[in-house]
Parts: sequence; C-alpha cells; structure tokens
Amino acid sequence: MNDSRSLTDASSDRNPQTASERGEDLVSPIMSDVGTKRWGSSETENHRTSLAQVEHASHDLSQAERLDTVIQRTGLTLEKAWRSENYNDYRFPELATSALQKMQEEGAFLFDSIATWLIGLRKNVSEGPNEGGTFGQPPVTLYSDTSARFVIEALVWLDGTTAIHDHAFSGAFLVAQGSSVHTEYEFEMKEEIGTDMRLGSLAWKTSEILTPGMARPIHAGEGFIHALFHLDYPSITLVARTTTSVTRQYNYMYPGISSRAFLEPTRIKTQIRMLKALLLANPQHFQSLAESLLSDADLWTVRDFFATFYEKRDSVPDWDRIVAAAAEGQDETHISAIIQSAGEARKIAEVVALRRKVRKKDLRFFLALLMNVPDRSDIVRMTAERYPDSDPSEKIVSWISELSDKYDIGLTFTPVTLALASAALDDMDLQSALDTLNKQFPTAQLMTHRGALSDAWDELHSITLFRSLFGSPVKGVASRR
Ligand SMILES: [Fe+2]
Repeated sequence: MNDSRSLTDASSDRNPQTASERGEDLVSPIMSDVGTKRWGSSETENHRTSLAQVEHASHDLSQAERLDTVIQRTGLTLEKAWRSENYNDYRFPELATSALQKMQEEGAFLFDSIATWLIGLRKNVSEGPNEGGTFGQPPVTLYSDTSARFVIEALVWLDGTTAIHDHAFSGAFLVAQGSSVHTEYEFEMKEEIGTDMRLGSLAWKTSEILTPGMARPIHAGEGFIHALFHLDYPSITLVARTTTSVTRQYNYMYPGISSRAFLEPTRIKTQIRMLKALLLANPQHFQSLAESLLSDADLWTVRDFFATFYEKRDSVPDWDRIVAAAAEGQDETHISAIIQSAGEARKIAEVVALRRKVRKKDLRFFLALLMNVPDRSDIVRMTAERYPDSDPSEKIVSWISELSDKYDIGLTFTPVTLALASAALDDMDLQSALDTLNKQFPTAQLMTHRGALSDAWDELHSITLFRSLFGSPVKGVASRR
C-alpha cells in the first residue's frame, strides 16, 4: 500500500466524513420529499437534532465549568503548600507531582474538555512561559498563580515529539490522555566549549511507558535529562512548573553534544539557507563557498552546516573536501562528534516523518524504540516486556515488514530478507544467517541469490532508520545512508 492510500484510510477512520464530503447526493432525497408530510417530519427531526446539540454543548460547558473548579482548587492548594515551604524550589517537584495526581483524579483532563474549557468558556488566564510557543500543539496555560511563581499547563500532542533535553525550571508532568514512551539519559561532560556547548558522552538510562495518571517530577539541571514520544493521537500532558529559570536549558544529541536550547544565531541560519539554494542552483559554487565558510568557521556554524547537509552529501560535488575544510579549522574529534550527531539527527528526522503517517499504536511504539533506545538488546528487551506473550524478534520483524509494506522506508523486504533481519536480531553474522536461511528456503534459491543476500545484509546494516537495531554509530564520512 502506498503512503497516500494508507494515510487516507487512517484519517477517514478517525474523522468520519460528512455525506457532502464523501460526494453523496444530498439534493435529490430532499427534493423528492417536497410537498409531502415527510418534509414536516424532517423539520421536527432537525429541531430535535439542534436541541440535542444544544443539550450536548450545555453538558460540555458544565463539564468545563467543573474542570475549571478543579484547576482553581489545584492551583490555590499548590500555592498554599509551596508557600508553607517558603517557596523552596527543591521542594516544588514533589509538591507539583502530588498536585497533578490529585487534579487528574478530580477532573477529566481530556483533549475535548480542555478545548471546551479554553474556547467554550472563553477562559483567559495570565499567559505562562510556553503560551504561544511550539512546545505543545498547542500549549495551554490552565493556571497562573497570583505571584507568577508557577503555572499549570496542558500540552496537546499530535505529531510532536520532544528533543532530548534538560530543564531550567522545576516541576512535574503527568500523562492525562494517551500514553507515552518516556526515556531518561545521562550526560558525561568531557569538554566545555563555553557555557553554551559542551562535548561529552550521552548514555541511555531507562525507558518506560507512561499511561494516564502517571506523573514524574522535573528537577532543574542536567540531573534529569529526558525525551517523550507520544504513542496516542492526541495525547495530553499536564505540567506544573516554576516560571523562573534557575539554570540554562540544554538539548542533547548522540554521541554527546549538549547545546543551549533556544539559541539559534540568525546569521548562520541565513548562510545555511543560502548554501541550500546554491546546492540546488549551482553545486560548484556551493562547493567553493562551503569550503571557504568551513575552513575558519566556529563550532556552531560547523554543527549547523553538517546538520543540514549531511543528508544531502550525495548531491555535494566533493564531500571529502568539505569534511577536510571543516577539519582545517577545528579539532578532529569535534568534527567527528558533529558528523556522528548529524547522522543521528537524520535518523530522528526519518522517524519523525514516519510518525506523522503512522497511527497504529504498536508501530508508534516501535518508532519510539528506534528513536530513543540506541541499542538492539534494549529494544528487544523492551519489546518483550510490552508484549510478553510474543517472541520479541518475531514482533520486531513483523513491524519491519509492516512499515516496509505500507510506507516508503527506502527498503523493500521479502520473506527471505525478513528472515535475514530476524537472524541479525539474533546477533548472527552473515555466514550463520545464510546457514539458517538454508534450513528455511530451498538451497538452489539461496545459491542464486547469494550475492543479492549479501548486498541486502549490508544494506540492512547501513539503513539509517534501523541504525539502533542493526547498525553501529555513523563514523565520519565513510557511512552511507
Ligand atoms: Fe521535559
């Protein structure tokens, strides 16, 4: 099934179209009824419908009023509790966690009810730090305390996902609707490039599934580094957080680059955009200007350059010279880390693009693992934990097959290549994999396809999307895709 077809199917399941949108003829049945008593019946029917709609809307509004009562009570109670702790920000995460859990028990903080609270009640509060931003689709401030020390907000998530990040504030978050894969990481700093960029190593700590009612505290600083991947469409997260920043907030990328969040020098962005245009219109001019830019560039420019052009390197006239130019002005280990992180960013971009199309929860779970869990053994273990009645390798192979059938992932799988994937999941080398396949498929077929299978094996181990499952981290410029 192609992408557009599967997307159409998914959206029509979720959003039943009206008859007119389906192209059905709405005129003829009414015209044929003109002058008969059924016309009057339709009026009655319409009247009943509008009455039902009014009652429904009224019910929604009264639900939203009740929600507002819960919000106000939670906010006032949390303010009082924190005041009694002298507004100690170290204490706030624990207080916020309890407050959100109680709030969730008392009210149904669901997508529809929050929308009715915001729009139906014309509810207005002092804007929190996220209001109008992109962290949430949208982020909605539910409560601002009178001294502006903290806010409670609801974050709506459809296709969004969070970067790996820490926090400049304290608080807590709670899943109110849907479920999310929550992953924590740790960062060991090895070199500080000022306070805005640090190099080191990023390591995965744990992943867990959070379901409605589950809350986690947020501690400011790099002691709590995490990312969330939302499995349901939509998902709602409630957050209670302090409004003042006590430290800088950083985003993190494998293998270990930590850079200050929300810091994007505009001039670099303009230069990169110009280079993108040049690569399309005049590749040779791109080559000379890119080399010139990189030969004495700062690390921010180098990072943004490779983040943009790593995926386009096949279109670049001489990629090796580009890398050499970057190495002229920077430490080789810096360049290596930046190119590896660009490869990781490419994988994340592919997962995010797929997630916009994929609605099935178990496939989204697989995408979450591909995006957030860097190691095959942990992906297999987490699959086994979530699906204890299934063989985890078989489950993963079925997901690969489904993704390959329904979406363009750059690789088409056959029963034989799926068996290769299964062997790779079981840590076999190529020869062991071929020996295993010999038992499952006719030998003659294998002999005929032996070269193709070897190529498929190599491709499986180099495909960006499955890097965490089959590949090793991107090494410099040698890796493909
Ligand atoms: Fe966060």
